[in-house]
Parts: sequence; C-alpha cells; structure tokens
Amino acid sequence: MLTINNVLMPNGTRQTITRKYNKEMTLDGSDLLALPGLIDPHVHFRVPGMEDKEDWQHASKAALRGGYTMVFDMPNTKPATTTKERLQNKIERINQQLAEVDLPLRYQLFFGADKNQFHEIAKVKDEIVGIKVFMGASTGDLLMDDESSLHAIYALAKAYNLVIALHAEDELIIRENASKYANETDFKYHSIIRAPQAATKAVDLVIQLSELYGVTSYILHVSTFGELNLVREAKLRGVPVYVETCPHYLFLDDSMYPELNGRGKMNPPLRSLADQEVLWQALTDGTIDTIGSDHAPHKLDEKEQPLCKCPSGVPGIETTLPLLISAWQADKISLLRIVELLHANPKKIFNLPENDDLVLVDIVNTQVLRDEQMATKCKWTPFVGRELTGFPRYVYINQRLIDCRSL
Ligand code: DOR
Ligand code: ZN
Repeated sequence: MLTINNVLMPNGTRQTITRKYNKEMTLDGSDLLALPGLIDPHVHFRVPGMEDKEDWQHASKAALRGGYTMVFDMPNTKPATTTKERLQNKIERINQQLAEVDLPLRYQLFFGADKNQFHEIAKVKDEIVGIKVFMGASTGDLLMDDESSLHAIYALAKAYNLVIALHAEDELIIRENASKYANETDFKYHSIIRAPQAATKAVDLVIQLSELYGVTSYILHVSTFGELNLVREAKLRGVPVYVETCPHYLFLDDSMYPELNGRGKMNPPLRSLADQEVLWQALTDGTIDTIGSDHAPHKLDEKEQPLCKCPSGVPGIETTLPLLISAWQADKISLLRIVELLHANPKKIFNLPENDDLVLVDIVNTQVLRDEQMATKCKWTPFVGRELTGFPRYVYINQRLIDCRSL
C-alpha cells in the first residue's frame, strides 16, 4: 500500500490518501498537492514521420513530468492519420516507443478528416477518440475547408456518435491576408494575417453545423473575445459545443513578439492583452471547458528562421500545470477549476473511464524554466526564464509510483 499523509487536496483540506502498491511506502505530503491524473486533449507527438521534432520516448517523459497520465494525439503526422492502416501502424510505433522507455502513459488518437478517405471512418470508429478537422491549413497537409465536405463529416459523426475536434480558422481569410502581407518580415504580422475574424468566421460555421446535426463539437485552441461570445450564446441555446484554450494564449500575448520572434509563432496566433483578459474571465465563468497544451514541438533551428520559413507551433505539456499552479498562487484561478479544466471536463466530454491515477505536485519549491531542462525532444520552451512553482514530484499510474526527478 502507498500512503500519502497530510497532502493538500483541491478543495483546500489536508488528507491522508492511499493507493494499491506492491510494497508498504509512506510519503510525507506536507509540501504536496494531490491531483487526479491530468488529461491533455491536444498534443502533437509527431509519430510517424517527424521524429526529429518529437517522439514518444521523449514526449512520455515530458507528459509525466507535466502531471499528465493521458494524452490525445493529433493526426497531422507524416503520413496523416486518415486510414485504418495508418492508424494501426501509428499505434504499433507508439507502443514500441513507450515500451523502449518502459513508461506507462495512457493515450487516445484523433483520426484526420480527409474528404478522399471518408469510407475509412466506419473502420476505425470504435478505436478513436474523435475526428480532427482542419478548417484552416497548419502544420501538415490536412485541410477540409469546403462546406459540402464539412456537412458530410458532420453527418458521419452523427451516424457513428463521434466527437468532432476542430481547428477553426477560415482558410480564405488567411490566404487573402497572407498575399496582402507577403513581404512583411516582422513576426507580429503572423497575428495580423491569421486575424481574429478568421477564427470567429469558422467558429460561427462550427456552431451552425453542431446545431444542425446535433453533433458534439470540440473547438480547439480558442483565443479571441469574438469566438467566446459566439460560444457563450450557443451554449445558452443548448448547442453541444465545448471549448478549449491553450497556455500560450493565457500567458503570452502579441506585444511579446519582439522578445519571442519565432518562439511566439503558432496557429492560431498570439492575440492582444484585451483578448487574454476575456479568456481569463471565460476560464472562471465556465465558458471555457478545457485547457489543452497544443504541445507542437519544432526544432529550435527551425523556429529561428525568418517569419516566412518558421513553422508554427510551440511545446507546452511540461509547463502548463506549473503555469496554472503559479496562477493559483497569485489568486487568478482556483484549484477546483484547474481540476475541472485539466481532468474532469475532458473526461466528461470524451467519455473516458475512471482510473485512480494521481499526481503529487510540489507547491513549495520554485524553478526557473530553462530550455536545456525540458524533457521534450525539441528542448526549448516559449516560457523560458519564468520562475514557477507547481512542478509534479510524483505520478502514480497503473500501480507504479514514478519519481519525476528520475525522468
Ligand atoms: O501552431 C500549430 N502547430 N498549430 C497547429 O494547428 C498545428 C501545430 C503543429 O502541428 O505544429
Ligand atoms: Zn494543435
């Protein structure tokens, strides 16, 4: 039996908690906070095809060090996960990579929507956590921006009772702006090209489709005031839409491009401080349901290229919890809300089974984030230099106790 004494619970009480274990072990929980195993509904662990950026040997360590015991991986790999055969190949590779490091990370996979491969969905419907639709192009070649294909995928999701996760940015608006600003080199133009209107226009369409088909939409990485207004109103009408935001929209903004350059380039892009304030309000009032890290590693030398060549995406799975725990210590968010966002809501939306995973978080010691200290294969973080508290000390999963300092 594993016993943790006097540990802080999210409701503010101190308790003794126990777990099944292969020997008698007692931990002093005085400096620790106990959380359920965190769920990251949005990661890009890059297998297959982009293992130079990330692989599951590194990403599993990064996930566990970040307090996550379950991740949902995205299909924009090489090749994209759009057929049963590719899905099975991906599962085999992931299992092989996890076995190599002997780490017990739980995972689920999104299946990529590709209008030429719709017939594959029937074959995989019981093996996937949902369908991912890119309404705007991003890393990889997945794109489905025509309305008739969007109607077709919603009809399929209805028939098979699947959730649709959406990258909701309007491709046409982005393309028009991209040609208008094609000669600009300042990274701030990334936010101007992928304008807030591109996101609101796409979210508006998602809400219409969800309502029409009665299909659950999970809107990924919401970042603007306008999207939240649309979603708030849709939720009031009972439309089945859920909303994710990401740590970079909560802790970085578009005034930071001069220091961040390519480290601040992701899709959707960084937004204004005014948008960020509204995101924090929406976190508290329940409009936002989850926080996904959108862990999207690219190599630092790729990110140091000029705007037109720099790929979009930032790593985040090992810094999300410390950022939020530090925000709790600054009275910006409650622990109960953190548990809803990082555990209870993703579990509910995606109908996951119970487990007894546990994360024991050090809430006393602080650390300054350094690129070299990151477990992700890409070895950098857009939050470099921040002094944070709230790094996990132990993770309990599958009757194993993992000391995060050993990872
Ligand atoms: O910034 C992003 N990076 N946004 C995406 O939609 C994809 C992701 C990636 O895979 O690199
Ligand atoms: Zn993503």
